[in-house]
Amino acid sequence: MRIYQMKNYDEMSRKAADLIAAQVIVKPDAVLGLATGSTPLGAYRLLIERYQKNELDFSEICSVNLDEYMGLSAANAQSYAYFMRSNFFDSINILPENTHIPNGLEEDTVLECDRYERVIGALGGIDLQILGIGGNGHIGFNEPGDAFIPETHCVELAASTIQANARFFASRGEVPTAAYTMGIRSILQAKSIVLMASGKAKAKALYRALRGPITPALPASVLQLHGNLSVVADEEALSDIKATSTDKLP
Ligand code: PGA
Repeated sequence: MRIYQMKNYDEMSRKAADLIAAQVIVKPDAVLGLATGSTPLGAYRLLIERYQKNELDFSEICSVNLDEYMGLSAANAQSYAYFMRSNFFDSINILPENTHIPNGLEEDTVLECDRYERVIGALGGIDLQILGIGGNGHIGFNEPGDAFIPETHCVELAASTIQANARFFASRGEVPTAAYTMGIRSILQAKSIVLMASGKAKAKALYRALRGPITPALPASVLQLHGNLSVVADEEALSDIKATSTDKLP
């Protein structure tokens, strides 16, 4: 595991953008596993800037997103499909047909989960997976539970997740209570993973993810098993963690 301890959100974003840009440059047809939420927004903005300066070309890049709310169409401004378009895809030259995200409107969950597994499989897996972490330790919408769920699945969102995401909706009652999420196997099979975290509110979850027991009660803890994990986090998010000799702290 490599831990990049960055000063603040902006520095975290810059480092994450560097790592994503490096992947795009080294492998122009890479498969990027992408995340939504506040955490990666700054990195997406910086990647757009580099694209505008002709430093990056996304024309052969494919993407698979981690998750989508159930019941929201891609046209709904609260959907993750909309988030990705408005915060990233519409401002770079990635081809819309190369971007993938679960279909929140598909009510047949078996069908949709199968379809998404086949999408990921047909792409040959993920080269670089970007992850945020929930305050409850979730990755994607793999919520704390009794078991790691390997494949794409439909999940009832934890009360704490609904509460945390209510800030994006007019009221708490409007937050969808279920979502599709990529499973733990696709995440762990990514060739490399960048886990991003910013702010004091993530410190406990990040500590447990990196230093606690590997347990589905804290889904991000499974990342300890990955051989190529970079943690890009700011000082507040890392405030509970002391580096050990097995970490590489640049
Ligand atoms: P956030 O969400 O980036 O909005 O904090 C992260 C997550 O819940 O995975």
